Amino acid sequence: MTFHKFGRREFLKKAAGGGMLAGAGLAFPRFAMAQGAKIKVGLMLPYTGTYAPLGVAIENGFRLALQESGGKLGGREVEFFKVDDESEPAKATDNVNRLVTRDKVDVVIGTVHSGVCAAMIRVTRETGVLHMIPNAGLSQATGSLCAPNIIRTSFSNWQPGYGMGIALSQRKNVKNVATIAWRYAAGEESVKGFKDGYLRGGGKIAKELWIPFPNVEFQALLTEIASLRPDATYAFFAGGGAAKFLKDYAQAGLNKTIPLVGPGFLTDGILEAVGGAAQGVETALHYADDLSFKRDKEFRLAYVKAFKLQPDVYAVAGYDTGLLLAAGLKAVNGEVAQKKELIAAMEKVTVDSPRGKWRLSKAHNPIQDMYLRKVVGIDNKYEGVAVKALDDDPSAMGQCRMG
Ligand code: BEZ
Repeated sequence: MTFHKFGRREFLKKAAGGGMLAGAGLAFPRFAMAQGAKIKVGLMLPYTGTYAPLGVAIENGFRLALQESGGKLGGREVEFFKVDDESEPAKATDNVNRLVTRDKVDVVIGTVHSGVCAAMIRVTRETGVLHMIPNAGLSQATGSLCAPNIIRTSFSNWQPGYGMGIALSQRKNVKNVATIAWRYAAGEESVKGFKDGYLRGGGKIAKELWIPFPNVEFQALLTEIASLRPDATYAFFAGGGAAKFLKDYAQAGLNKTIPLVGPGFLTDGILEAVGGAAQGVETALHYADDLSFKRDKEFRLAYVKAFKLQPDVYAVAGYDTGLLLAAGLKAVNGEVAQKKELIAAMEKVTVDSPRGKWRLSKAHNPIQDMYLRKVVGIDNKYEGVAVKALDDDPSAMGQCRMG
């Protein structure tokens, strides 16, 4: 594995020296790859900050898929290049250029944070480098900024929000819901998805509450929720921030009187860390801890054996990214420079995932079931399917000029 570091000035000099392919659009073949050369995989993920555990799980999942394909992709060895994006949008352009321009990776895998991913997309669209998104749900990625070389293996932020909204819209006793979220693309799109689903049932939004990312000073907002007394609270937080929110919600006694719901990120990967604070919290997501698929049971066993950790939705996303890339590269015999054929092959794959089988939409977003889950002990227990074979937000899909 390679983890290069160099200064901004040196990087800019190299970029100005002709390494950057400004305006290249989708002129895919950059450098013909000699048969047998290693496939260069760039990982741009958060390894520090509130989303660090998510980045680690994604990398683990990807490495597990690679291990299961004999350590090779399309018959070729793999060389890794890593950048810690710190979930920091201001550093994203420099960070992705390190992988694309300096390291000349064949594929960039990243990232978690929607704002960082938006900046990555500006570079990957321009250069045409293959970009696989293993988490960030920003609607633009498979909406207005969709492109043949941009493929998302995770979800759009709208999807789990919509799933949870549909589930609550069917409950007669939930007429008034408060929302609380980090104020950036992911929180805003998650709340939109929730409202699109929930408001169909005739319910009302008591109030939308916002807090800047990655702030975790929730006290004033929790006091406001207590005084609003909604029938439920819908919350978008993830990683370390979600753990803190769950603990604070319980500490304030709100878990006893106002049921908490959300997209599955609210409770995934953190249940051991929050003790009992999340008991009973219901969420919607494309994964749960006790799915009945044989594929999932095998994956979970293999993951625990390899990393001595329980897998979560982020590990599944990394794993599925590896499965899809391996299938595509197998179809083109490892000829990663044949990008059109590689992408066409990936578009045809049905991914046999631990979450259940899924395929890419025309805009390159997974079409997948949204499961309703409830926290019991340290598991997100499957309760049923909230929405079957869900595609993306129609208003985002309408903005994608591909397919
Ligand atoms: C996002 O920024 O898109 C995101 C981050 C963590 C979990 C889910 C979505």
